[in-house]
Amino acid sequence: MSWHPIAAVEEALRANPWLPAQVDGASMVLTRKGDQWFAVQDRCTHAGCPLAEEATIEGGRIHCHCHGSEFDLASGEVLQGPAEYPLRTFEVRVAGDQLEVDV
Ligand code: FES
Repeated sequence: MSWHPIAAVEEALRANPWLPAQVDGASMVLTRKGDQWFAVQDRCTHAGCPLAEEATIEGGRIHCHCHGSEFDLASGEVLQGPAEYPLRTFEVRVAGDQLEVDV
């Protein structure tokens, strides 16, 4: 695991709610809750819907609209099925005017 640039803070602030990104071969989506940044894998673990297009966030819960699964934004754990497996999460940090992700 090592830190990689993912986006400029200014660009990420415009994302609504997700900024899709490819980092070191991993597809992920980046978002913010309060002043904290989060990145999770882009594909729902249920049937692979792209979260960048199919998911919204409410109160720290990711809701995949394909079939209704919900995940915890911070941990990726399943809060509601039909998904059975958690989302992979990535640690995000601010480095000057850039965001970096640990992949
Ligand atoms: S693909 Fe996300 S709930 Fe089915």
